[in-house]
Amino acid sequence: MLVENLSLEGTGLKPFLKWAGGKYRIVHRIREQLPPGHRLVEPFVGSGAVFLNLDYPGYLLCDNNADLINLFQVLKEEGETFVKYCRDYFTPASNREEEYYRFRSEFNRTGNKKQKAALFLYLNRHGYNGLCRYNSSGEFNTPFGRYVKPYFPEKEMLYFARKAQKATFACRDFRNTMAKAKPGDAVYCDPPYVPLSGTANFTEYSSGGFGLKEQQKLAEMAGKLAEEGIPVLLSNHDTAFVRQIYRGAQITSFKVRRFISCQGDNRNKAGEILALFRG
Ligand SMILES: C[S@@+](CC[C@H](N)C(=O)[O-])C[C@H]1O[C@@H](n2cnc3c(N)ncnc32)[C@H](O)[C@@H]1O
Repeated sequence: MLVENLSLEGTGLKPFLKWAGGKYRIVHRIREQLPPGHRLVEPFVGSGAVFLNLDYPGYLLCDNNADLINLFQVLKEEGETFVKYCRDYFTPASNREEEYYRFRSEFNRTGNKKQKAALFLYLNRHGYNGLCRYNSSGEFNTPFGRYVKPYFPEKEMLYFARKAQKATFACRDFRNTMAKAKPGDAVYCDPPYVPLSGTANFTEYSSGGFGLKEQQKLAEMAGKLAEEGIPVLLSNHDTAFVRQIYRGAQITSFKVRRFISCQGDNRNKAGEILALFRG
């Protein structure tokens, strides 16, 4: 059983969303590696851990999850008013199973951007493991999480809203974002990782449509940007396949500790890499 995924390294500011692959525990490594620039470009922004913990004059923050980007845009535009509006969804009465499923249906139906954004936050904090999962019709379908008292991340949202004034958010595929990078930018890419094992099946593997072809395309685009003088730093698992597609980049590898049993004696360490392409 996976109990916890911990890195024993210094941690950064925590984002207000729970998000798979959040990078706040290794931001110090990313900060060390990523060159300065006029603007930080993130094609896979996720919960924004890197944006929150690095300091650039401006930011272009993209992801192909439309609900995530809508939430960031509403929070940027409405700030504290929106935070207050969200608080109304964090009551003991709304932390009941029937209410959760009622809010989930409302989320899937509504066309109101502000309501959709608040419900996305509600679902993230009340749903099972903070999982963001959709069915084949594109409906959010994560089950109820049964938390005793879901945390309302007020401080974290207010900090994000202030810093977001320097950021532009866009819902885009990474190919489009990479194509928009300009000299003077620094690019950080945190794509869905390649699987740690089963590389033999990797051509079949695709998580949310991110398979072998996408991994290769991303590496190729990173190499091209570096030739134009735009540095690109990428995160991924440390596997032979990843080292092969990131050849030509400066590689730093490290271990992230994972506890895989309740006893704590059955832990292992997963290898990760940071690959820097620069001209
Ligand atoms: C590992 S997560 C990023 C985590 C982020 N660095 C953080 O700290 O929270 C990968 C992100 O890539 C996004 N994504 C997946 N496929 C994509 C694509 N083709 N183009 C753009 N974003 C994509 C997912 O929605 C997800 O937010």
